[in-house]
Amino acid sequence: MSATVEAARAILRDNDRGGYTVPTAGLYPYQWNWDAAFVAMGWITFDEPRAWREFERLLEGQWADGMVPHIIFHGPKSDYFPGPDVWKTRAPVPTSGISQPPVLATAVRHCWEAGRDGTLAEDRTAAIYPKILAWHRWWVEARDPERGGLLGCLHPWESGMDNSPAWDAAFARVAPTPATPIRRSDTGHVGADMRPSDDFYKRVIALIDLYASLQWEPRALWARTPFKVADLAINAILHRANRDLLALAERFGTAAEREEIASRLELTASAIDRLWSEAAGLYLPFDLIAKRPIEAPISAGFLPAWAGIADAARISTMAATLERWAKKVRYLVPSTSPEDPRFEPRRYWRGPVWCMMNMMIAEGFRAAGASDLAARIKSDTAALVSRAGFHEYFDPQTGVGLGGGHFSWTASVALSWPLLSAASGE
Ligand code: GLC
Repeated sequence: MSATVEAARAILRDNDRGGYTVPTAGLYPYQWNWDAAFVAMGWITFDEPRAWREFERLLEGQWADGMVPHIIFHGPKSDYFPGPDVWKTRAPVPTSGISQPPVLATAVRHCWEAGRDGTLAEDRTAAIYPKILAWHRWWVEARDPERGGLLGCLHPWESGMDNSPAWDAAFARVAPTPATPIRRSDTGHVGADMRPSDDFYKRVIALIDLYASLQWEPRALWARTPFKVADLAINAILHRANRDLLALAERFGTAAEREEIASRLELTASAIDRLWSEAAGLYLPFDLIAKRPIEAPISAGFLPAWAGIADAARISTMAATLERWAKKVRYLVPSTSPEDPRFEPRRYWRGPVWCMMNMMIAEGFRAAGASDLAARIKSDTAALVSRAGFHEYFDPQTGVGLGGGHFSWTASVALSWPLLSAASGE
């Protein structure tokens, strides 16, 4: 076993808190939604029962209406802010009140296919399938009530790309006047220059205060929110997840469910198609309140390749865009275009590289036939991890590791993206 694989497994074991894996100790002391999906794909490479446990513990937090929250506050209290007292949700297990990009179905399908113990994988997937279906239905009900095909993201944290410059203008509509006092703990764990600003935190909490005052009722949130954007992480990842759910439905679902998923796929493919920008050379998010595209070239704009809905012409235009970005940075894929004035190589989602984004983007390009570019992204990812270690994110210019260390999804990507472990294995 290579040293990289050994080190990556050790990280998952160290971050295991009894069936769920914290992203990293200290900074993120609970279970995060899309982290759990990537993490399970890491566990499945060496401990299959533990991979299934990760999903089960995530789904303990599922709400009665199907929503799977972005944080499940299992376990002991910590100094994490905002904790359950701020979210004021009423679920039996304390959780946040918003969701996160739905990688779950893709991860479950992966584990179902990768599972060596046929009965275990079969039983667990059969139990999980209806819960994922309920969650995907929730996205439609709660985040696309008008059924246009694009999901609205109601909080920067829901996009998973919290501090992206794509949200600056839309987020400026949220008054930075929270009722809840701000008690940040993140900057006690990592340097303030790598984290969002205080002003960002005030708006983040103000939005939570508003939603808590509406008792997290999805229709009320939809009607009253000042922040509503169609984001490519959520939309492309859910499209991909629905394709994977359809594959699971062949085995575990009914004909009516398969039809429901297939017709949603048709609708979302054409809705996402409208987010294409020939001028930017990738897909752009959309402000659903201002009703205009958000001119922010960010790495999520390549995710329609992962969703499998970019045609050959778009794949080659996106590849050319990425090749251009590559001339300005040493390591792909920066989270914000290095050609954009808002690019900041060290600050949260404004420039740094995230390994799980690289995996999705590269796998999308590879599946679409752009294998050289996919290989370049993969070898850059391997180089970052082997030089800097398993950090939360990395500076695309220097390769320096940033944010939290000993990070679960970075370790999982190294485990579940096999050539990566081979390339970086000493
Ligand atoms: C940050 C990231 C988010 C992630 C969480 C835990 O908030 O922006 O995407 O899920 O950390 O890793």
